[in-house]
Amino acid sequence: MTSSVLLLGQTLSFTANPMHTSVDDAAHWQTHGAVLIEGGIIAAVGERDAMRARYPMAKTVDYGDHLITAGFVDAHAHYPQTAIIASWGKRLIDWLSTYTFPEEMRFGDKTFATDIAQRYLDLTRANGTTTVATFCTIHPESVDAIFEAAEQRGQRIVAGKTCMDRNAPDGLRDTAQSGYDDSKALLQKWHGRERASYAITPRFSPTSTPEQLEAMGTLWAEHPDCLMQTHLSEQVDEIEWVKNLFPDARDYLDTYERFGLVGPGALMGHAIHLTPRERARMKDLDVSLVHCPTSNTFIGSGLFDMQGLTAEGHRIGLATDTGGGSSFSMLRTMAAAYEIGQLRGTALHPAQLYWLATQGSAQALRMEDKIGNIAVGMEADLTVLDLSSTPAIAQRSARANTPWEALFPTIMMGDDRAIKDVWINGKKG
Ligand code: GUN
Ligand code: ZN
Repeated sequence: MTSSVLLLGQTLSFTANPMHTSVDDAAHWQTHGAVLIEGGIIAAVGERDAMRARYPMAKTVDYGDHLITAGFVDAHAHYPQTAIIASWGKRLIDWLSTYTFPEEMRFGDKTFATDIAQRYLDLTRANGTTTVATFCTIHPESVDAIFEAAEQRGQRIVAGKTCMDRNAPDGLRDTAQSGYDDSKALLQKWHGRERASYAITPRFSPTSTPEQLEAMGTLWAEHPDCLMQTHLSEQVDEIEWVKNLFPDARDYLDTYERFGLVGPGALMGHAIHLTPRERARMKDLDVSLVHCPTSNTFIGSGLFDMQGLTAEGHRIGLATDTGGGSSFSMLRTMAAAYEIGQLRGTALHPAQLYWLATQGSAQALRMEDKIGNIAVGMEADLTVLDLSSTPAIAQRSARANTPWEALFPTIMMGDDRAIKDVWINGKKG
């Protein structure tokens, strides 16, 4: 018989999207809640005393007033940039050539790649993140390293070989053919193995020739159940560069669209400076947009239009974009999303922020039936928050009159000290 574990605490779950439905109808906060885990799956959810009575044989873990939620889902990150996070003073193109490319050059060394992959998963787990979608480097070793590290932890992961065949230094370029061949071999090795998913990963249009983008489109057409992740319209200078590189393209999105890289399962990181055509086309094709707020302020990219894009019905996830993003923490990322919302005149509710960091990102990855919520049948990836983790937070949450008021100080000021426990695949991580 599979052993079962009963977690007791406050619980937060969603039955609808609070970006579209009222918070009271969409979010469910149970002050005396319980979650039963069996064989890595959430087997039951309910009120604490009733659940105790119903499952007397389950091993009990009592979290008291702590808040049990779905584990965070980070929909866009670069694990190879772990050690160069918080590098000073550059904007996107210079930041890539000064800090990023030299670091990514090192990932042909499997031992080095494994060391950083393990470090990255340690850091993200310590921050409550249970699933990431990450870019790797051009080196197949970097892809094996992160998939192997995630598999050891029983962790759900999305990753792919970053393909670049131009505008990158010697030693950090593949070719249209080798990018296709290596990606295909890695995809066949990893996609669907345990909890791994492969994402076809052209870095962005400036670093791929039309031939390489075409090869990526061919590969995606051959493996349509994979995701496709890339960057779109992050900085104004980048958009100008794309215009010069692709003079015939209608816009930045078109540089992907003409090669079959725009459709359901495409993940567009940043998506800040969009034209009306790009917005309409991505909505029609149900493309996922990924908001990377700490990165967008850190590299100076711009303010994502959360309110407008939500109103248009886009599929939107939230992400750190480590290490262009300045944090491994999805709490910090929610705080930055709040701040950017304020700068654009919309205050996102704590339920909306939390939804974006869990179900929203899971929807972006098309995994919302598996992760990102507390519900029967979902995979048991859970994060337990201490809502009074520091003196500054504790004195504020002590004044709270509602659960949301108790949570918001942790969203705005919390860090890894707020993460009491993380459960991955039903096991305490
Ligand atoms: N655009 C292309 N590559 C990158 C990257 O590594 N980080 C960010 N933030 N933007 C990119
Ligand atoms: Zn990125």
